Amino acid sequence: MTTIRAIQVTEFGAPEVLRTTVVPAPVPGPGEVLIQVSHIDTLFIETQIRTGWARDYFPVRPPYTPGGALSGTVLSTGPDTDPSWKGRRVVAGPGLTGAYAEQVVASTTQLTPIPAPLSLLDAAALATDGVTATGIVEGVRIGPGDRVLILGAAGGMGTLLVQLAHAAGAHVVGAARGAEKLALVTELGANATVDYSTPDWPAEARKALGGTGANVILDGVGGELGLQAFALAADGARVSAHGAPSGGFAPIDPKEAGRRSITLRGIADVQFAQEEISRLSAKVLAQAAAGTLRPTIAATYPLDRAAEAHTAIEARALAGKAILTVA
Ligand SMILES: NC(=O)c1ccc[n+]([C@@H]2O[C@H](COP(=O)([O-])OP(=O)(O)OC[C@H]3O[C@@H](n4cnc5c(N)ncnc54)[C@H](OP(=O)(O)O)[C@@H]3O)[C@@H](O)[C@H]2O)c1
Repeated sequence: MTTIRAIQVTEFGAPEVLRTTVVPAPVPGPGEVLIQVSHIDTLFIETQIRTGWARDYFPVRPPYTPGGALSGTVLSTGPDTDPSWKGRRVVAGPGLTGAYAEQVVASTTQLTPIPAPLSLLDAAALATDGVTATGIVEGVRIGPGDRVLILGAAGGMGTLLVQLAHAAGAHVVGAARGAEKLALVTELGANATVDYSTPDWPAEARKALGGTGANVILDGVGGELGLQAFALAADGARVSAHGAPSGGFAPIDPKEAGRRSITLRGIADVQFAQEEISRLSAKVLAQAAAGTLRPTIAATYPLDRAAEAHTAIEARALAGKAILTVA
């Protein structure tokens, strides 16, 4: 029997609960392929699920293998699967289960071919964040003249939102914590940055937005910071409150939003159907291959050191993303 290494969450808890296990290699069924994994996406949400956060919403229970997206090469195809997938470089996901592994089975409907100049590493870094960021920017319809405030601007998705809003011709104000992250956000195209770990950040952000507030807010942080950002929304603004790394989504009063003609979008608006995921994934990989969008990879970790990746994400130590690498 062929075996592979996979990471398991052995119980809910601290990053140490992520352990390497040896399991039988998966076998592709009809319509599926077996992928030799190259790089694995990691997400902040995976660290929250690992602790047992929001169990009503996330039904997964230990032991389980985390991971929703990866890049790799198709090793073999299952019965009734188009054999031309074999040997192709693909992104699989988002929406997989158990991507923290050396080999993974995925349905062909979950695959996006990686355009030639794009590396497997960059493709993995875009696999989830690229889909969500592009979906958010399309959803709030950012265009020239918009004044856009982005919270968590130096995160995996924030770094893409900054580039996409800048490319759409908007005036972009990126909010993050610390000089290193703010420098990255400026490099990615923000017109101004603010450090939201300083108490007077809302006043600074208002000034950077031109005094009249934001007409688009992309909140990847939530909680009190998200609420403070909402207070900077101009009447008629479009607000996406999709983030909760602070521990919860911004508790925005929908009635106040309604009174001020503010359009509110949230986490439900970034749960895309597979067809939409495939369209967004192809779009984002094409942009990256053309050099108009780039992922920011702060650190890579060997698969066996997934716990270190989770520790760094939780510590807010990374300007950009953490990626797991299969040797
Ligand atoms: N990635 C996706 O496709 C996706 C999809 C749906 C929803 N979301 C949500 O969007 C948010 C951002 O996602 P992401 O994947 O881009 O995460 P990420 O790369 O880890 O970025 C999260 C950012 O949040 C900031 N942050 C603020 N308060 C924090 C805290 N208490 N602990 C840790 N970080 C904190 C950190 O930057 P500072 O240190 O600068 O504050 C960090 O850069 C998450 O809530 C996620 O669940 C993401």
